[in-house]
Amino acid sequence: MSAFQTATVLSVRHWTESLFSFTATRDPGFRFQNGQFAMIGLEVDGRPLMRAYSMASANHEEELEFFSIKVADGPLTSRLQKIKEGDRILVGRKATGTLIAGNLISGRRLLLLSTGTGLAPFASLIKDPDIYDTYETIVLAHGCRHVSELAYGEQLIESLHRHEVFGPLVRDRLLYYPTVTREPFRNRGRITDLIASGQMFADIGGPDLDLETDRVMLCGSPAMLAELQAMLQDRGFVEGNHSTPGHFVVEKAFVER
Ligand code: A2P
Repeated sequence: MSAFQTATVLSVRHWTESLFSFTATRDPGFRFQNGQFAMIGLEVDGRPLMRAYSMASANHEEELEFFSIKVADGPLTSRLQKIKEGDRILVGRKATGTLIAGNLISGRRLLLLSTGTGLAPFASLIKDPDIYDTYETIVLAHGCRHVSELAYGEQLIESLHRHEVFGPLVRDRLLYYPTVTREPFRNRGRITDLIASGQMFADIGGPDLDLETDRVMLCGSPAMLAELQAMLQDRGFVEGNHSTPGHFVVEKAFVER
């Protein structure tokens, strides 16, 4: 059996010159935990060209969804950005990744901190009903350079607000905190700075970062992860993994494409 299965592209949406998302058919045998990633790609010159992509869809959904950057000279995304409805893509059979609920010890507030396409695994997690059973409050922070780059996340939150099942949960318990660094917006600045200064917590109307109650998932650029990791460790937070759950977990946003 090949390590990859084929999936059919169902829809493609271009959000900016550098961001797009797409949905594809899901093999009924393809199982994953919300927050995980799989290898996704195209057959190029008779060979699979694959990169890691977080599922942006939840595991109870019928279709797969992915959120991607476009890199003009990227081996995969220079091609993948041209896919259309009906095209075939390759999907690895195995999902993996550390941004899963079971890698965190129990807590009351879950902070999902992302930059750029690091939003993708959190798009999956905020559609997981179990997350709302486990945590009283979920904060989804998404940092981008420009307002236009927030569109995918804004639309996701709007559609969850309207959702029959998730609407009430999301409206009550999910605090969405988009922030922009390079042009005017209601929230401005890097997530690191907004946390260090306490501004983010003041803006969402919640208590400051607290080791007793807060659990954190990080997904973004290596620099963002390194800074937040250091900030959390300074405050006593311990990183979790599959063998030992902790106060926070980390995955880099996959951008080498
Ligand atoms: P900035 O505009 O100040 O560089 P990128 O597109 O480069 O991945 O950046 C996405 C967002 O992450 C931008 O808003 C960027 O801010 C921010 N960012 C970059 N480096 C860091 C960091 N070390 N910590 C937190 N946010 C960062």
